[in-house]
Order: sequence, then C-alpha cells, then structure tokens
Amino acid sequence: MSTLPTSADIPTKTVLQAIGDRRTIRYYDPEKVVEDWKIKTMLQAGRLQSCQGNINATEAIVVNRRTTDMWDEIEECVSGFNVQMINQASHLIFWVTNLNAWYGRANDGLSTLAMSGALTKYHGWNYEFSMTQTIPRLMSFPTERTDQLLRFESGLAVANAMIAGEALGVSQSLIAFGRKPGGVEKAFGLPPEYKFTWAHVVGYPNEDRKAGGQRVRLKFEKLFHDDQFKNPMHIEPELVEWQKQAGMLQEQAPLDGRFEEIDRIATQFSRDPGVVSWPEREIKRLINDDDWDFGPRIKARAQQLIDQGGLPDYPEEMLDTFRRIMEERGLDVKKFLGEDA
Ligand SMILES: Cc1cc2nc3c(=O)[nH]c(=O)nc-3n(C[C@H](O)[C@H](O)[C@H](O)COP(=O)(O)O)c2cc1C
Repeated sequence: MSTLPTSADIPTKTVLQAIGDRRTIRYYDPEKVVEDWKIKTMLQAGRLQSCQGNINATEAIVVNRRTTDMWDEIEECVSGFNVQMINQASHLIFWVTNLNAWYGRANDGLSTLAMSGALTKYHGWNYEFSMTQTIPRLMSFPTERTDQLLRFESGLAVANAMIAGEALGVSQSLIAFGRKPGGVEKAFGLPPEYKFTWAHVVGYPNEDRKAGGQRVRLKFEKLFHDDQFKNPMHIEPELVEWQKQAGMLQEQAPLDGRFEEIDRIATQFSRDPGVVSWPEREIKRLINDDDWDFGPRIKARAQQLIDQGGLPDYPEEMLDTFRRIMEERGLDVKKFLGEDA
C-alpha cells in the first residue's frame, strides 16, 4: 500500500491563499514523484465538485510516466509545446466526460438528491411533474447540448482538483493534446460517449513556486458587470489590499531574476534559452491597452525589450490570419495590422 498522509500533512493553507499561489508550472523536476495520496486527494476534490442532478459525469485516467506502457502513444498526441512538460512531470491526469451519464444516470442522481434531503417540494419539485415533464425533457436533450453542459461541469471538477493540489504543494498545468485529434480516445479505447476533455500534468517544480510572479489578467472592471452588461463593476482599493493580505493577489510577473531562471533551467536540460518576443509596434500598443491590468514590472519589461531592439515583424502568415479573422468573424482587429491595415 502506498504511504498515507499523517494528520501533520493536513494543509493549513487557506483556499484564498491556494488560489493566489496557483501558477501554471511548466518546468518539473524529473526525479520527483507526486505521492499517491496527494493525487487521490485531488481526484476526491474533483469528485466532490458540484455536478448537475448529481449525475457524476466526470472521470479521470491517471497515468504514471514510470509505469505506463502507453507513453509513446500518449506522447504522439500531445501538442509540441507540452512535450517537455509531460516528460518531466510525475503524472498525467486525463479528464474525461461521460455524456451518457446525462441520459443514463440523471434519474438516479435526482433520486439520490431527494433521498439526501436536497431536492424538495419547497422548491417546487413534485413527483408527477418530475416524471411526466422535467426528467423526460432533460433526458431528451440532444448530445450537442449535453456535451456543452457536461464539459463545463468537468472543468469545474478539474478546477477543484487543481486548488486541492495547490493546497498540498503539488504543481500543475493543464495541457493541450492537439497534435493527433482522436489519439487519446484511441489510445485508451474510450467508447464514443466518453469525451476526452482535458489533460493535466502534476509534479514538483524545477522552477521557483512563484514561477516568476502572478500572471497579468484583464482589469477586474473589464470582466465583471454590475447589474447591467457593460456597467463596470468596480473593486474598492481597500478590498484589493485585503485580497493581497489574504494571499490571493500577489506580485505580478515578471519578478526579478525570472529570465535568468528560465535560462538556467534551459542550460540544465540543453534546451534553447530565452522567451519569444512580439514586434516592437505591438508591444507598445499592448502595454498602453487600458483593458489590461499591467503593473510596473511588466511595463518595465516591455520597455526593456523595446530598448534592446532587434524585435521581429509579423510574418505574412500572421498578417493573413488577422485579415481572415476580420473577414470571417467580422472582428475589427485592425490594431494588430498597424499601418499594414
Ligand atoms: C483549458 C486550459 C488549457 C491550457 N493548455 C495549456 C497548454 O497546453 N500548455 C501550457 O503551457 N499551458 C496551458 N494552459 C495554461 C494557461 O496558459 C495559463 O493558465 C496561463 O498562462 C495563465 O497563467 P497561470 O495559470 O499561471 O495564471 C492552459 C490553461 C487552461 C485553462
């Protein structure tokens, strides 16, 4: 039996701190293996996440790089920029969504809720109506609809697992498997009703846990609306301060030494050093874009890149892509084209 945690292993980290501490970690220590109990605790967190009608549509296949005999098949499917990650992380979790749970388990799931005292007449549940209307209607949803509903739910389960992992000191990243469409389903022999939703690497980091700082997002008021769409919800500076104290909001990337750290790890594994940079004109435009919550560190980095010079221009393929987006989606992305518009 694998080692079990002791009471001393129960994390004291608050949820808000775990949310703030979480980073997508992209450098893993290939020698370190995540303890089974931590992975099982993450899965348990996924299992306990809210799920519609208690139908339990989200499942996961946990693959240990050291013991699986499917590694080559798996590696063929992962997007190129994730290859290093899967080969250095400890485990891969493939989250899958069982669409048939909607049709085959909703009836039982709702019954469990009634027996648990969660689904009540107070809220209008009534046996006759449920059996003649609600449940038959739910069970007649087309697959496209249940696909959308249940994938959302799987996302929630993964998010819960990630925060539990963070609380236990496990590092992680969600990773795309876009190289070989259908490859993961084939490798595991998934029946057609089982949809591969997302893959998730877990391990211990080979980079600082802060991974260079919290990654910038759009401004709060650009994302959240108060009472009405497009009526920005403002956040009080005092509340932002409180969220900082709670560990939720942390110093923004790039922290001092981040680029040296990246180069150090690259040297350790004989990989190319450095990061990719965008055209100068684009960096200038973006850093002045008021939608983004750019703090002083990222602004200084932008300036440093501009001062260093030698930045590329967009190649024709990229310019064509922007033009196509405008045509096909009716989106005004002329800003990306600058004077080439
Ligand atoms: C559904 C999903 C898929 C993602 N896929 C990848 C991926 O394939 N490779 C990768 O390096 N990061 C991936 N990420 C991580 C995001 O790029 C990351 O969340 C973003 O860089 C913000 O950084 P943070 O997570 O550290 O806040 C994914 C994130 C999500 C939510």
